Amino acid sequence: MSNKRKILVTSALPYANGSIHLGHLVEYIQTDIWVRFQRLIGNECYYMCADDTHGTPIMISARKQNISPEDLIKKMYDEHLRDFKAFRISFDNYYSTNSEENRELAEYIYLQAKQKGAIYEKEIAQYYCEQDEMFLPDRMIKGTCPVCKAEDQYGDNCEACSATYDPTELINPFCAICGKKPVIKKSIHYYFKLSDFTNELKTWVGGDHLRSEIKNKLQEWFTQGIKDWDISRDAPYFGFKIPGTDNKYFYVWLDAPVGYMATTKNWCKANSRNFDEIWRGKEFEIHHFIGKDILYFHTLFWPAMLMVSGFSMPTKINIHGFLTVNGEKMSKSRGTFINATDYLKCVDPEFLRYYYAAKLGAGVDDLDLNLSDFVFRINSDVLGKVVNIASRLGKIVNKKLNNTLSEIDEQGKSILGEMRQALPRVAQFYETLDYNKAMREIMPLADIVNKYINDTAPWEIVKTNEEKARIVCTVGLNGLYLLIGMLKPVLPRIAEGVEKFLNIPAITWDSLEKDITQHKINEYERLAERIELKTVEGILGVKEA
Ligand code: MSP
Ligand code: ZN
Repeated sequence: MSNKRKILVTSALPYANGSIHLGHLVEYIQTDIWVRFQRLIGNECYYMCADDTHGTPIMISARKQNISPEDLIKKMYDEHLRDFKAFRISFDNYYSTNSEENRELAEYIYLQAKQKGAIYEKEIAQYYCEQDEMFLPDRMIKGTCPVCKAEDQYGDNCEACSATYDPTELINPFCAICGKKPVIKKSIHYYFKLSDFTNELKTWVGGDHLRSEIKNKLQEWFTQGIKDWDISRDAPYFGFKIPGTDNKYFYVWLDAPVGYMATTKNWCKANSRNFDEIWRGKEFEIHHFIGKDILYFHTLFWPAMLMVSGFSMPTKINIHGFLTVNGEKMSKSRGTFINATDYLKCVDPEFLRYYYAAKLGAGVDDLDLNLSDFVFRINSDVLGKVVNIASRLGKIVNKKLNNTLSEIDEQGKSILGEMRQALPRVAQFYETLDYNKAMREIMPLADIVNKYINDTAPWEIVKTNEEKARIVCTVGLNGLYLLIGMLKPVLPRIAEGVEKFLNIPAITWDSLEKDITQHKINEYERLAERIELKTVEGILGVKEA
């Protein structure tokens, strides 16, 4: 392809103190489908991600397990990578924010900001636990809500009445780690002058990088006024020390997005690629995929950091909604907080990819995993409409027709021609993240192929007219080829199985223009198994009461 795009893609970096769950996978699957689609149509597309390893919760978690934070993040790294592999998330590099590349780049960006006068110091007063000898982040202070008087609420907001407040407003505050009453203590913090970037950010937001509903949200924030950003934390903290200080650390959200770059840098070194071409040049597009909860960080803090240090600005920031399970927020107590590992024990990962694709649109709407709908869709679409073509025709061609395909007749040409007409529409829907629409384009095409097979009944004709049956099977298998080619970003494992069965090289979008004729195929091997609700319900965790 002549005008190949060069694209760098990222997903948000999962925290290293928790397991990957089906909510996270909305994002990694959404991103991976897009990345695989870009590669399929011939673009140069690299996918970077990493574990987000710093911050107080990780430090506390490690303490509780009596291990070092380094050991904790190593353990989680291995677990995360195993889960991502199982779901076929095709990262070009999966790295860690606790890396030398990340330290260097975070320091560089900070020093650039400092040099340009965008950093200042300010003394602030915060809760400090004398028992644990540390300042307490908002989520580690609890107390009684100053508004509704509900007990045992976090320092930043009340889950009972949804009020937000400053931790110092809590009634009877206590340390969430040890239960002691904290004291107020002063300390110097480093601030990034985000307010100075308001105009530049407004201009950037006005460009074609965000959907309009997101722009509206940002407009609200601009109207409220952009506040400066506290980028430092006091020791003890697991993170990078701020250059020129001996007890101040970068707040985790300072070095986390820098992890996108550090991961790229680490990959460039291993693959003899030029980092500046990607992060400073004009040729590369940069696409971030994130959830709606981390919008502020990616649309305000991160662009300002890039501006101040002269790196490339994001081409697009794609924002998705949250996963609900059977209509409700995932919840540990209801057993609907489903870890990737538990899912993998019961159900084929390929099926979750399809289900999410069938439900995902380009907007920030939440999406629901309804287990009986899941079983229905998988059995009806993936098994009943797609895999079924392979198993029915495979049997005939393998057993009765010497594994050999023929030419395609006029009727076949017209069916396949009609299917090919959908290719540009499907491509467009992948490009714009309207995967649900892409699936709604593709599945009726599968209906056409299945109807053709039912109507012509090759298992009957083969008894009397082998050559006629061979033509029907050739048409049907070319239909399968087109379907699985269009579904390849979503169903990579099944697509590989079909490539092996049809005895063809890896499908590309361009290759779909050509029929497979006069060709020897391989023995059909089962591509996927039907599922039952009972089995799928096994993914629901044991209720924690
Ligand atoms: N570590 C930060 C991101 C740093 S990026 C420089 C973080 N980590 S996270 O593990 O909490 O979330 C990772 C991604 O998964 C985020 O984009 C988040 O929106 C997404 N999701 C987490 N739970 C989710 C659902 N229940 N549903 C959909 N996406 C969810 O945030
Ligand atoms: Zn304490």
